Amino acid sequence: MAVLPILTLGDPLLRQRSREVPPEELRAPETQAFIDDLIETMAHARGAGLAAPQVGSAVRVCAICVKDNPRYPYKPNWPLTVLVNPVLTPLSDETFVNNEGCLSVPNLRGEVKRFTELRVEALDRQGNSLAFEVRGLTAGTFQHECDHLDGKLFVDRVFDTTSLSTWAEFERHGAAGFAERARALVARWGS
Ligand code: NI
Repeated sequence: MAVLPILTLGDPLLRQRSREVPPEELRAPETQAFIDDLIETMAHARGAGLAAPQVGSAVRVCAICVKDNPRYPYKPNWPLTVLVNPVLTPLSDETFVNNEGCLSVPNLRGEVKRFTELRVEALDRQGNSLAFEVRGLTAGTFQHECDHLDGKLFVDRVFDTTSLSTWAEFERHGAAGFAERARALVARWGS
């Protein structure tokens, strides 16, 4: 396993639509080794998620894992989930305002609107079909990671650029207010 370099804003690979992974390619040892590296890189960088294009591979694969994450202390824990060829379908029109950062956009955070409830359909890393629903802050994490597979970054969705901040200024001015909103979401959805 290896920690891979993470591409940052301006790299054209972050801006392209990644391609689907066919089942036989998913089973190949090289692909499985790549998924191991993606997970290890996510853990090393303390990301809540990481998408394949962020480490230079334009395939529709991402990983999500939240375990007492110090970058996002308000995020509820979520077990390691690898999504291959994911499709997200909102379950209602309801949205919430999320404050996001991204390992590919160093030292910047901002507010984006995310659907509150989603159906997730994907393959797992063994090629089995997954179908489940996610809600609240966790739904925000899923949308952020799947956006990467379409070449979209959270900065594209920032609807009020005055919400942009460095991580240090977020801690100083935004964290307390956002943590309160995040608690309300977690209380309502349990996630
Ligand atoms: Ni990201």
